[in-house]
Amino acid sequence: MTQDELKQKVAHAALHYIKDVSIVGVGTGSTVRHFIDYLAEFKSDIEGAVSSSEMTTAHLKKVGIPVLDLNAVGTLDVYIDGADEVTPHKHMIKGGGGALTREKIIGAASKKFICIVDETKCVDVLGAFPLPIEVIPMARSYVAREMVKLGGQPVWRENFITDNHNEIIDVHNLNILDPIELEKIINNITGVVTNGLFAMRAADVVLVGSGTEVITR
Ligand code: 5RP
Repeated sequence: MTQDELKQKVAHAALHYIKDVSIVGVGTGSTVRHFIDYLAEFKSDIEGAVSSSEMTTAHLKKVGIPVLDLNAVGTLDVYIDGADEVTPHKHMIKGGGGALTREKIIGAASKKFICIVDETKCVDVLGAFPLPIEVIPMARSYVAREMVKLGGQPVWRENFITDNHNEIIDVHNLNILDPIELEKIINNITGVVTNGLFAMRAADVVLVGSGTEVITR
């Protein structure tokens, strides 16, 4: 199977987790795009979705799924999203698509975080994928210098503005042995909006598209 076929397969498997759920939290990315296409087949069974990005919002609307405001719906039963890396502890790096802030908010506000990935995303130690950090624009260089002190090599994601009108730096060469601790340290750098470590609130279930099957962790 191609990587995209694996993404499609794992997206289909996520439908199992939305049975009896009226409002679904929906992430961002190419794996989630497949999930939205499947979710559309069940749109009459759900009230709507809470979206993690303008891109996801556009797709949800296109397939006829109402997009709801998180503030109006309270705690969500389930959030479905992809990841750039995921460990056996269900810690993740996210934000390759730049939607990390809204993704982290919805993940925090959800009872169950279902991570859907193809097998290429599974790692033992996070950090081979550059860690995205959303920053207030005027803090970009300052945060980058602080990340150098932490051993990383920050690269400005040029010509990219987040849905929240901020900027992203991608930090290379971090060998992240304690993701919970590093998530807290980066959160404490002034000017950081969100970092792409999803470890304090890890996934509850990871579905991995592998070979011809979907493995549930
Ligand atoms: C977007 C994300 C995505 O979940 C992550 O980049 C994985 O994307 P894809 O499903 O396209 O591989 O965090 O901000």
